[in-house]
Amino acid sequence: MYICLCKGITDQDIREAVKTSGNRKEVFKKLGLASDCGSCFEEALNIVNESSNSLPQVAKSNPRNYKKN
Ligand code: FES
Repeated sequence: MYICLCKGITDQDIREAVKTSGNRKEVFKKLGLASDCGSCFEEALNIVNESSNSLPQVAKSNPRNYKKN
């Protein structure tokens, strides 16, 4: 589902970016979320928060430290 119509960013794009980003701000910057009209901000933030909470604590702070078992 499209979250940011200005940039054509989907919820899946956001979830993927969360996996490779160190923090929430980086996800927004990497994708360009809310950088145009800004109307996607709240929904994008909800998805980022949702996705971040499902990651182990170490991965949230630095995904490069996360090792799969
Ligand atoms: S809908 Fe995301 S910046 Fe406009």
